[in-house]
Amino acid sequence: MDFSGKTVIVIGGTSGINRGIAEAFAAAGAKLAVASRSQDKVDDTVAALKAAGAAEAIGASFDVRDDQAVADGLEHFHDALGDFDVLVSGAAGNFPALTAEMSVNAFKTVVDIDLIGTVHVMKGAYPFLKRPGASIINISAPQAYLPYEGQAHVCAAKAGVDQITRTLSMEWGIEGIRVNSVVPGFIEGTEGAKRLSPSEDAHEEIRKDIPLGRWGQTQDVANACLFLSSDLASYISGNVLAVDGALYQRGSGRFGQMMGEMLRMKGKAQS
Ligand code: HXC
Ligand code: NAP
Repeated sequence: MDFSGKTVIVIGGTSGINRGIAEAFAAAGAKLAVASRSQDKVDDTVAALKAAGAAEAIGASFDVRDDQAVADGLEHFHDALGDFDVLVSGAAGNFPALTAEMSVNAFKTVVDIDLIGTVHVMKGAYPFLKRPGASIINISAPQAYLPYEGQAHVCAAKAGVDQITRTLSMEWGIEGIRVNSVVPGFIEGTEGAKRLSPSEDAHEEIRKDIPLGRWGQTQDVANACLFLSSDLASYISGNVLAVDGALYQRGSGRFGQMMGEMLRMKGKAQS
């Protein structure tokens, strides 16, 4: 994969899976821009991207819930790096909580970051996308199509993200812009996985359920993003691509209940 001369923007690209994606594009010679809330994380990532081989690397700190800050940040990236060949939108928030026990604001916080944040990113980037040829990748989650107890907020938000992917693949497809979602499965060592699978036992239970017999790596997800943004995928748009070792062919399974049981036990212990 050679992305030299290409401009790649990764929103939420300063840790975990999204940072792995940014580093993979850097190693393929792209010009990179990353953004998230923490300026320290942005600075650390920009240095790592330069070390990984990026032709250029810049960053900015903003919150995807602030539409004007997103639009301004993306305009700054465009001024510095030119039209966007690749846009990855991956900022997200998650915590396990039963709906009856979380505040409306807690539910809304996740919807605001994951779903409305994606709208801000896509609309903010729209004027700056390369036409024809841009590839947009929204980072989704299995919760988009599988219900898990303790995850109604994430399920609702990520389902919305995938429907935006499908709809904009039509609205923007006529301008030569491709839009796809990538759905990571359980990815080793990431914040999201730690929040949902906090113990060694849970980690092993999940591993046993994965048909390919191992947790995913950030590089597995990055490889899918490189492919989807390459010429090899020039006729692929409007898809939701799972990178999950076939785990979700089994449906929500035990994991769909496990978190609910854990949260109810915790609630009983506290009362
Ligand atoms: C119940 C909670 C809660 C919890 C927060 N809240 N944590 N409610 N249980 N564990 C409530 C708060 O009480 C508050 O409601 C509201 O949510 C907002 O909380 P804040 O702390 O003010 O929000 P904020 O500082 O904006 O932080 C957002 C966040 C935080 C989502 C709560 O965790 C965050 O910044 N996360 C980013 C990192 C992250 O989550 N990464 C994992 C992504 S993985 P009240 O009513 O009190 O005001 C992923 C999918 C993984 O998305 C899939 C794996 C298979
Ligand atoms: P992570 O390390 O917490 O990454 C989240 C990124 O988004 C960070 O760079 C974070 O940086 C940024 N961010 C969070 N809230 C933001 C906001 N309001 N505005 C701007 N940036 C914000 O999480 P991860 O586990 O790697 O997950 C990455 C993506 O993969 C998410 O979209 C998640 O839903 C998806 N996913 C993960 C898994 C998994 O196994 N981990 C599985 C399925 C799907 P700041 O803190 O600096 O803002």
